[in-house]
Amino acid sequence: MSLKGKRVVIIGGTSGIGLSTARAFLDQSAQVIIASRSAAKLSAAKKALGDQVDIFELDFRNEEMVADVFNKIGKFDHLVITAGEITTGRFSDLPISDAKESFENKFWGQYITVRAAVPYLNNASSITMTSGGYAKGATTLEAVNSAVEGLVRGLAVDLAPVRVNVVSPGMVDTPLFSGMPEELRQESFSKAAQHLPVGRVGKPEDIAQSYVYLAENGFTTGTVVTINGGAHLG
Ligand SMILES: NC(=O)c1ccc[n+]([C@@H]2O[C@H](COP(=O)([O-])OP(=O)(O)OC[C@H]3O[C@@H](n4cnc5c(N)ncnc54)[C@H](OP(=O)(O)O)[C@@H]3O)[C@@H](O)[C@H]2O)c1
Repeated sequence: MSLKGKRVVIIGGTSGIGLSTARAFLDQSAQVIIASRSAAKLSAAKKALGDQVDIFELDFRNEEMVADVFNKIGKFDHLVITAGEITTGRFSDLPISDAKESFENKFWGQYITVRAAVPYLNNASSITMTSGGYAKGATTLEAVNSAVEGLVRGLAVDLAPVRVNVVSPGMVDTPLFSGMPEELRQESFSKAAQHLPVGRVGKPEDIAQSYVYLAENGFTTGTVVTINGGAHLG
């Protein structure tokens, strides 16, 4: 299925995996629309991607804001959601409010977005959400990502013939880690790389290709595409 001229909305398209995914869809001559909270990130992304990209300020946890943005965008073809923040920590140490906030953000944000987007999609449309791999000691992360993957399986049936899939990335070098001191960040990446058969952590473009594949492939629905450099093997 060609993506030429198709309207693709990427929630979280201003940074990391989402920004790279926006580039990958532009390479397929799609019309790309990106949304996230920060006006500064939106204008930087527009500068990086080009003037043909439309931008919308949106917090995907806010039902009214999400409904308003989709109303402004109107009919479109493919939805990608890469937005999502999770607070991690050991089960007994992480405050329950942080665990709940992680669901509020990554699970409910994606749920609210899909619910609001459905009226604007068509029978050939796709929705691709984002989960993530298990990290030792990160029980909340595993719980939220499992919930997202369960939601995708249900929606693939409920919303058919619209196709619904999820991408599960392993560790990827993105601004998600920008809060860490540089030395610690590099140390975590090289430690993680040693345990991966591919010998390195991911780059956003490694993951971006999967969102394009899932939008293009009309026979794929209800699946989890795992791209983690072989993390599940060891
Ligand atoms: N990087 C990894 O190692 C890794 C591993 C596994 C899974 N993942 C998952 O992959 C996805 C993308 O991660 P990334 O590494 O690309 O992160 P990132 O570089 O921090 O990008 C996150 C994007 O989501 C947007 N966003 C965050 N909260 C939002 C909200 N409430 N409403 C709207 N937009 C929001 C951010 O923009 P604003 O700040 O402007 O809102 C930004 O554009 C996330 O779901 C993450 O959990 C990442």
